[in-house]
Amino acid sequence: MTLVVARTRTELRASLEGKGEVSLVPTMGALHDGHLRLLEHATGFGDITVASIFVNPTQFSPSEDFAEYPRTFDSDVERCEKAGVAVVFAPELDEMYPAGTGGITVDPGPLGSVLEGASRPAHFRGVLTVVSKLVGIVRPDFAVFGEKDYQQLILIAEMSRDLCMGVKVVGCPSVREADGLAMSSRNRYLSAEQREQATALSRALRAGVVQA
Ligand code: PAF
Repeated sequence: MTLVVARTRTELRASLEGKGEVSLVPTMGALHDGHLRLLEHATGFGDITVASIFVNPTQFSPSEDFAEYPRTFDSDVERCEKAGVAVVFAPELDEMYPAGTGGITVDPGPLGSVLEGASRPAHFRGVLTVVSKLVGIVRPDFAVFGEKDYQQLILIAEMSRDLCMGVKVVGCPSVREADGLAMSSRNRYLSAEQREQATALSRALRAGVVQA
């Protein structure tokens, strides 16, 4: 099947017409092997896999890296094709936020303001808002998210349940570098020293595993 790149909601809906159950993998692009695992995992659900590529401004605070966030669209599309994705949905800002970004949003509730949400107060509101839009546009049967962003995964599963969105939220295990660091598009920002420090997290997780 030749991969279709849909830029608008209309193109997207047309590309899914009569294609059966849909599995969605929302991404912000800059795809790495961790994303590939998500895409491959998604092909195990439904009849057709859609990957969305959209760097969502509402989940970045003004001091964060929205402008610098890596954008590697052509290689992302190649990777999607190799992973068996049928449709890449890559909308512009106006297509996702036709009335601007100041309208109705999704309140993440108490879980949105602890852990990562404590230092990124608007982050999960932005994530849930854009994921609810993607679900409204794509109308998937399944949506796949990485366990690397575990708080995000739980919040999206709770949103789907609490707002009766009718999409089955599926988690996918993290993919790690050889030294244990979980793969992330933002790892490229780390200096050699910071990268070494970051492996403390996976070492701590391994040390905490209780042997049965
Ligand atoms: O995990 C991400 O890359 C983003 O938070 C998501 C789910 C694609 C929403 O923009």
